Amino acid sequence: MVAWRQGISIQVVVLGLLSVVALQAQQTVGPQPKTFSQGAELFASNCAGCHGADGRGGEHAPNIATASEVQHLADPDLIGIVKNGISGAGMPAFAPLGQQNLDAVVSYLRILQGRGNIVKLPGDPNRGEALFFGKARCSDCHMVNGKGGFIGSELSFYAADAATDQIRAMILDPDKNLPAEKKAITVVTLTGQKITGMLKVKDNFSLSIQTMDGGFRFFQNSELAQVDFGSHSLMPADYRSTLNSNEVDDLVSYLLRTGDENSRHSPTHSSKSADDDD
Ligand code: HEC
Ligand code: HEC
Repeated sequence: MVAWRQGISIQVVVLGLLSVVALQAQQTVGPQPKTFSQGAELFASNCAGCHGADGRGGEHAPNIATASEVQHLADPDLIGIVKNGISGAGMPAFAPLGQQNLDAVVSYLRILQGRGNIVKLPGDPNRGEALFFGKARCSDCHMVNGKGGFIGSELSFYAADAATDQIRAMILDPDKNLPAEKKAITVVTLTGQKITGMLKVKDNFSLSIQTMDGGFRFFQNSELAQVDFGSHSLMPADYRSTLNSNEVDDLVSYLLRTGDENSRHSPTHSSKSADDDD
């Protein structure tokens, strides 16, 4: 008898617990996260293949997460683009998904756009910051938030528009990934002096070069025996061996966090990609 009664009461307790769990789930989950997971699934299966899992761009399609042109589109316009596609430009029409799914995928895209706390950073941004200004010596050449060198570009906003893979590729293989005009120039003068730096000004008869120490050198073409421009980057080409892959992830995270923070603090900052197109 005793055992039987215990059995009942345990069952009651278990049922009670289950319904508490169910109730809590309903209260905290609510209707929105259902759209969220639905949107996330739809995005993963329909969009990520081209735009990247974080929406920051892939091989086949541009960044739609942090590109400010897309962030600034009103919902109906954004939904319209996804529904109708962009014919002739490789963006398919998703009208067959139906209105409810279109709404869900676009609200998930909005979450990716306000990404910060949703998409996981690949590494640890604090360790990345220490590497940037320490062992990896990025700050010898690049400035972030007013600190660092100047022979490379200012990187405070760089990652606001860049895809994770793109930043990693830039660190690991700058010679391959930098456009020619961002690479170094090396000249050899008729007297045999060799100078390397960044090309600053060039006309038909002369050029000027900024060297690593920040100084400028000016040459007439007639003084030069050799000019090599655009084949190598000034950036060290050996980060693949001097940094391990966790350290590269940390640096990428640091640049992503910096780009996010800076673009959030200055909403008027217009997308850098406009002056960055090759
Ligand atoms: C087959 C590859 C492909 C797929 C899949 C794809 N897109 Fe695109 N998408 C593109 C391309 C390419 C462009 C750029 C078109 C252009 O140059 O104007 C684009 C452009 C866009 C734009 C406009 C960007 C702008 O700058 O105005 C949005 C928004 C967009 N896609 C959202 C989505 C969403 C959401 C999905 C999934 C439902 C999706 N795309 C699936 C290739 C794709
Ligand atoms: C010896 C100088 C030097 C060092 C050290 C260096 N860079 Fe660079 N980096 C450059 C130069 C020069 C360029 C090409 C010019 C430019 O920045 O546009 C460049 C380009 C880049 C770019 C692409 C910028 C763009 O606008 O396309 C990124 C990102 C970058 N570097 C990140 C890093 C990181 C991260 C480190 C440290 C791991 C690092 N760099 C170390 C000199 C350097």
